[in-house]
Amino acid sequence: MSEPLKVGIAGLGTVGIGVIKILTQNADIIEQRAGRKIEVVAVSARSKSKDRGIDLGAYDWVDNTADIATHDNVDVVVELIGGSEGTAADLVRSSLDNARHVVTANKALIAHHGFELAQKAENNGVCLMYEAAVAGGIPVIKTIREGLAANKFRAVYGILNGTCNYILSVMRESGRDFYDVLKDAQKFGYAEADPAFDIEGVDAAHKLCILTSIAFGVKPDFDAIKVQGIAQINSTDIAYATEFGYRIKLLGVARKIEDKIMQVVEPCLVPIDSPMGIIEDVYNAVYVEGDFVETPLMTGKGAGERPTASSVVADIIDIARGVSVPTFGVPANSLKDAKWIDIGETNARYYLRLAVIDKPGVVADISAILKDQEISIEGMVQRGHDPGQCVPIVLTLHNARHVNMLRAVSIIKDLDACKEKPCLMRIEEL
Ligand SMILES: NC(=O)c1ccc[n+]([C@@H]2O[C@H](COP(=O)([O-])OP(=O)(O)OC[C@H]3O[C@@H](n4cnc5c(N)ncnc54)[C@H](OP(=O)(O)O)[C@@H]3O)[C@@H](O)[C@H]2O)c1
Repeated sequence: MSEPLKVGIAGLGTVGIGVIKILTQNADIIEQRAGRKIEVVAVSARSKSKDRGIDLGAYDWVDNTADIATHDNVDVVVELIGGSEGTAADLVRSSLDNARHVVTANKALIAHHGFELAQKAENNGVCLMYEAAVAGGIPVIKTIREGLAANKFRAVYGILNGTCNYILSVMRESGRDFYDVLKDAQKFGYAEADPAFDIEGVDAAHKLCILTSIAFGVKPDFDAIKVQGIAQINSTDIAYATEFGYRIKLLGVARKIEDKIMQVVEPCLVPIDSPMGIIEDVYNAVYVEGDFVETPLMTGKGAGERPTASSVVADIIDIARGVSVPTFGVPANSLKDAKWIDIGETNARYYLRLAVIDKPGVVADISAILKDQEISIEGMVQRGHDPGQCVPIVLTLHNARHVNMLRAVSIIKDLDACKEKPCLMRIEEL
């Protein structure tokens, strides 16, 4: 057997501790598969004295986390701190510069700096691996980058944030409202104390950015993603969507249209029995459309100590085996600058919920505004009749240009009778 592969772990939170546990508990099978032992030699985090529930006495504690990058004994730096800037970013850059392999679960870092880091890895002859960064325990990176490498992709899309999917699932099952369910998600540890990245769609966008790059061979470009979260969705939307035969899901969608790419994260209506409609609770799913493979669906747990650690260690095993794959599946310098589609120019069917005063002429006004924007109504529901009071009106709309839809919504919003910000969602017939 070859020499053990020596690992330094920076960050000993949920994922870091999970990695040490799986490396310890499954050491035999991991050694057999890797063809050599994998040894944790050094660890680091902010607080040395924190009780982490496991004994870290066998490992060299590194006070200054940055020193892991130059630690004499470390072949692979495992960065599990998080964040696109600061300590994590500095450590990864310095590790690559010092010709250490890097394994990370840090989607924000890869989404914002992936191209630069991929170049650094290649220039220094080392690997930069990040399977755990997208969809936690589901090996979507390896599947798309390696298993499906012979395909041209038309689209990749997915439910990429378990917290949002949990909130939307519970809202539907219980009829409760968004902020109420969010509190539960925080209580059960699904959402962070500051859940902004999850519910505003930023976390899903980080992951989509990475998938887009691998699927289409383009430089990751986070700023090119149109991002919208789920906070505006209420129990009325969920109930109407169900009645119309849909589920509401926060979807990340990257689609190639001719030589351009559309990249968007937003809540959408998807058919109840579609591949995305059936994914509930904290589960994630990634679906690709390839020219030869057609439409494989990958689903499973997208976060948590054990699934995430499983993916981190899969990357370490690849390094131990000597497997080396370009960071985004192609040499970094061959990654292209994508031509991004202006979302305004795309077409879709839409769901539109309005809260308007129940009085004569309002529906006619709304219909006229939609007609002026060349948008035709597929269906309209107004439950109950309460003259002078605010009532919900829900419309489904035939295929329309997004820019026209936005213009119509902005005019409707300014009507005296319109009492709340309209809720507009795309209907994705996946
Ligand atoms: N949790 C998941 O389910 C999951 C899933 C997929 C990907 N990820 C990614 O995995 C990474 C780690 O997530 P996590 O949930 O394990 O985070 P976490 O529980 O908050 O742990 C973060 C760790 O980093 C350490 N740390 C923070 N700032 C530091 C600094 N300036 N210098 C040194 N150490 C520092 C913390 O030290 P102390 O413990 O001493 O405070 C802690 O041990 C993130 O990139 C995250 O996006 C997480």
